Amino acid sequence: MTMPPHGPTSYRPPTSSSCPYGTPPSAPVSNRLLPIHGAEFSADPRATYARLRAQGPIAPCELDRGVYAYITTTYRAALYLLRNTPTVFLKNPVHWQALRKGQVPADSPALMMMQPRQNALWLDGGAHSRLRSAITDSLEWVDTHALAASVARIADDLLTRLVNLERPDLVADFADALPMQVLIDMFGCPLDLGHAIVGAIAKLFDTTQDAAQANADLEAACLALTRLKRDHPGYDVTSWLVAHPARLTDEEMIQQILLVIGAGTTPCTNLIANALLLLITDDRFSGDVHTGVRPVSHALDQVLWEDPPISNYCPLYLREEHIYEGVRLLPGVPILVSFAAANSDPALAAGADRRAGNRAHLAFSAGIRACPAPDLARVISETAIERVLDRLPDLALNCSPSQLMRRPGTFHSGWTHLPVTFPRTAPAGTYPIGGSR
Ligand code: HEM
Repeated sequence: MTMPPHGPTSYRPPTSSSCPYGTPPSAPVSNRLLPIHGAEFSADPRATYARLRAQGPIAPCELDRGVYAYITTTYRAALYLLRNTPTVFLKNPVHWQALRKGQVPADSPALMMMQPRQNALWLDGGAHSRLRSAITDSLEWVDTHALAASVARIADDLLTRLVNLERPDLVADFADALPMQVLIDMFGCPLDLGHAIVGAIAKLFDTTQDAAQANADLEAACLALTRLKRDHPGYDVTSWLVAHPARLTDEEMIQQILLVIGAGTTPCTNLIANALLLLITDDRFSGDVHTGVRPVSHALDQVLWEDPPISNYCPLYLREEHIYEGVRLLPGVPILVSFAAANSDPALAAGADRRAGNRAHLAFSAGIRACPAPDLARVISETAIERVLDRLPDLALNCSPSQLMRRPGTFHSGWTHLPVTFPRTAPAGTYPIGGSR
């Protein structure tokens, strides 16, 4: 098979002992691996995807300083990887050579997001299917009407506080907090344990706090929740998980609770914020949504295509060397699936203006690793956004769109802040919607 002129093996990466593509001599700058981290990438990820795509359907990249990976750049390559997992590609990071050799810096965000853990996300084969089935079966029991009611109640509480703030921000004061509170409610957490979980997670993200202590507190709260539900089962996800025929141990329960809460919160925060921005600033949506012609769900579809909340993830590892469309891929090196690059692949027939109702995007991944909760994610995001639009009519951005900043990082796509204004006469009461718990 012929190698493309710009395939991975033709690249000369920057000097580093952890570089997977051989010992590189000093390379001309233009031949350096493109970073998928840092300010330049975050400012315009699509420009980087386009440059990577010009190199091939899968291209080598710098994941973090001195940490290397491959990344898919086309829709077809992303699907190829996802459909050939686990026959050709594996998920367990024990196959990550640089990690095994201790070459991934301890403070690298890549380590935090890609290290081995005993949960469904990182295991392969029977261990994955067993834990995944416990999760998917339990999530299937969630009553979406009750979920929508819970989201509306939580959204209304947050908005009641937000309308009284001097500088309201739909990320900091709404989208950041809502999904976590909703998931804690879904898990049937009593107030004290809910506070313990939220507090410990906040400490984990606060670099001034003791991370090991925060982690121990978090696990202790999940263990307490598990024991509570083993003794007093209720109508909630924790109780369905403990009752599942997979018979999860306490340790497995802790890890799966943390996975679902972790997997469900940041992506929903980003989807809500990304869609709100579209609704506020894009006339195609704002006019239509307020007149009821074009539903919020179309704005969600648009965001899931154009700006997927998880932009690059699902790192996979080869069992042995593999050639895909002429690109030689080595084992031991993570291959990230770029959901964002796949969705923006110019080879796709459906143009950007024909995306409403089209759910062929890869924002929720695909295959045996696909997100088990796309419908719940939509209920959470759609209900939350509808509450904002109902409570805060005539919402406008309180800065120029060019002043908004994207969250830094490789894996998630969202905004750090969405400062807004609205007429202060907006009613501040709550608007209960149908359904009850
Ligand atoms: C907009 C919101 C969401 C998006 C865009 C999203 C997207 C994704 C993606 C792309 C993956 C694959 C990750 C990988 O393989 O590395 C995934 C996995 C997962 N998601 Fe979601 N997700 C969302 C919301 C949720 C929610 C609300 C839950 C739970 C209630 C959830 C639970 C999970 C779990 C447990 C996995 C791991 C599945 C496995 O490895 O078998 N997600 N999600």
